[in-house]
Amino acid sequence: MKKILVTGVLGQIGTELVPYLRKIYGADNVIASARRIKKNSSIVKEGLFELLDITRPEQIETIVNKYEINTIYHLASLLSATGEKDPLALWEINMNGLLKILEAVRTHRCSLFFPSSIAVFGPDSPPDKTPQDTITRPTSIYGVSKISGELLCELLPP
Ligand SMILES: NC(=O)c1ccc[n+]([C@@H]2O[C@H](COP(=O)([O-])OP(=O)(O)OC[C@H]3O[C@@H](n4cnc5c(N)ncnc54)[C@H](O)[C@@H]3O)[C@@H](O)[C@H]2O)c1
Repeated sequence: MKKILVTGVLGQIGTELVPYLRKIYGADNVIASARRIKKNSSIVKEGLFELLDITRPEQIETIVNKYEINTIYHLASLLSATGEKDPLALWEINMNGLLKILEAVRTHRCSLFFPSSIAVFGPDSPPDKTPQDTITRPTSIYGVSKISGELLCELLPP
């Protein structure tokens, strides 16, 4: 049985994904998490919810152990609009946060879903029929963090 942890659930993707996962796997098997609590959010009210700042590895460890998590959907991140203004914060969350999630994935042998972005491409990438393996020279710090994240995930041993 899957025991799923979802990070960054109060964002655009998480608010859509969590109810869907709860419907498929059951509310008791999907643990929604976010850095802050939003009291009126249906995601917080209608299932398991934990406070989790992904830059805090001890919080990740506690939740993974508590619920015997075996699958992580890692959505917590800073997107371009905020991140380009504060690249150090973006790097801390998108890269160091991902590394901490990957360490939990490695030590607990979890499955991981981590979304990339169209931002990995740049002006040198072919815009039509873009091949799977192609030029990825992004022009934003967000894009750099997403392509670096892709490469980091590929390094994770099976
Ligand atoms: N929305 C899109 O169209 C889109 C497209 C491609 C990829 N993605 C990727 O999907 C993922 C989720 O995107 P989104 O659109 O839901 O973003 P979002 O900004 O709406 O949500 C991200 C959430 O992460 C939270 N967060 C930030 N720092 C955190 C921390 N330290 N600990 C815990 N939570 C933290 C934010 O508070 C926010 O609620 C990201 O990896 C993003 O790159 C999104």
